[in-house]
Amino acid sequence: MGGDWFETIAEAERRAEKRLPRSVALAVRAGSERGLTLADNVAAFGELGFAPHMAGLSAKREQATVVMGQEISMPVLISPTGVQAIHPDGELAVARAAAARGTAMGLSSFASKPIEEIVAANPQTFLQVYWSGTREKMVQRLHRAKAAGAVGLIVTLDWSFVHARDWGSPFIPERIDRKAVLHYAPEVLRRPRWLAQWAKTKTLPDLSVPNWAGPGEPAPTFFGAYGEWMMTPPPTWDDVAWLCSQWEGPLVVKGITHPDDARAAVQAGAAAISVSNHGGNNLDGTPAAIRALPGVAEAVGGEIEILFDGGIRRGSDVVKAVALGARAVMLGRAALWGLAANGQAGVANVLEIMRAGITETLNAIDVASVRDLTPHDLVVPPGFARTPNRQSGSWLPAEP
Ligand SMILES: Cc1cc2nc3c(=O)[nH]c(=O)nc-3n(C[C@H](O)[C@H](O)[C@H](O)COP(=O)(O)O)c2cc1C
Repeated sequence: MGGDWFETIAEAERRAEKRLPRSVALAVRAGSERGLTLADNVAAFGELGFAPHMAGLSAKREQATVVMGQEISMPVLISPTGVQAIHPDGELAVARAAAARGTAMGLSSFASKPIEEIVAANPQTFLQVYWSGTREKMVQRLHRAKAAGAVGLIVTLDWSFVHARDWGSPFIPERIDRKAVLHYAPEVLRRPRWLAQWAKTKTLPDLSVPNWAGPGEPAPTFFGAYGEWMMTPPPTWDDVAWLCSQWEGPLVVKGITHPDDARAAVQAGAAAISVSNHGGNNLDGTPAAIRALPGVAEAVGGEIEILFDGGIRRGSDVVKAVALGARAVMLGRAALWGLAANGQAGVANVLEIMRAGITETLNAIDVASVRDLTPHDLVVPPGFARTPNRQSGSWLPAEP
């Protein structure tokens, strides 16, 4: 293992923060308002314990699983994130690393690389979309993704256009032009390795979003696309059902924390949901995603595949989420920090940290396969799960 290899996600984060210009590092950290949800997403995992066994353990450890019909080598996928122009190879590096490690990639609709290139690098690609623009435009995006060979669609529903952070938000330009270069110069000059990486490619970070464009149209800028999305009235559950019917393939509804919404996603015809609060970037004060998982699993666990994302930083976190009802988890920042720290090898490094951590944890708790995990493998403190206040109706909150 070379000197660029890191042993934990915390170290990847440190290296990414050292390498990236401050504004870029802040864009990756993201979060919103007081950062309560951002912090709780990670901290809540620390409240969950294990009950290890010591002898007479099975030697078999199985991580492979199936998500939306895709066989993957471990219960870990790449979550769609929209700022991968932090590295010249961007989403391509992530797609290659995921493919080499036998897992799937969620490609953000704000991605900087065209979906055709990503599917060529990783045939297990899911396109992520928002409810944005006219139905005709949405259908065009789905057709393009289908034609490219995407094997699934992720529709992300949780976004309320929050934009303030107590620690300050980074300046993001419309495009990297002369004015933006001058603005960034002081912080970029303090990051010579990052600058050298881009200088080698003789290109500048591209802030356009090619997968948003209709056939024959130029790629809009990030803010052009964002504006269209902001101006689009939010979808109803009937709209989500319509999207499912248009896609004609497995669809994940991402951003579920409420058991009622989980039920509605089942009704709409989704193949899976992701229990997620957008990594704490959306409504601050939403409990950690892992605290919402038990309630959602209880409501729809038998009816739909449950994915999970938010705060996964080690293999033992993956085991905890799977034990509480997730089929697999998705990585947001961990993959971005790996990408920033060491490109494709950095993302592969992150996935290997997860794989090793899952095996070590399964060894200790004596579970032969991730498919056999249950809440009984955990020590869950009273009051850990957070579920909406509701006195009546068919759903009752319960501890795992
Ligand atoms: C910088 C950044 C950009 C993101 N962009 C998107 C996006 O374009 N689409 C989406 O569905 N989720 C997006 N997310 C949310 C992630 O897919 C995921 O839900 C979240 O990051 C998981 O939390 P984690 O970062 O703690 O792993 C983004 C997250 C971050 C940190």
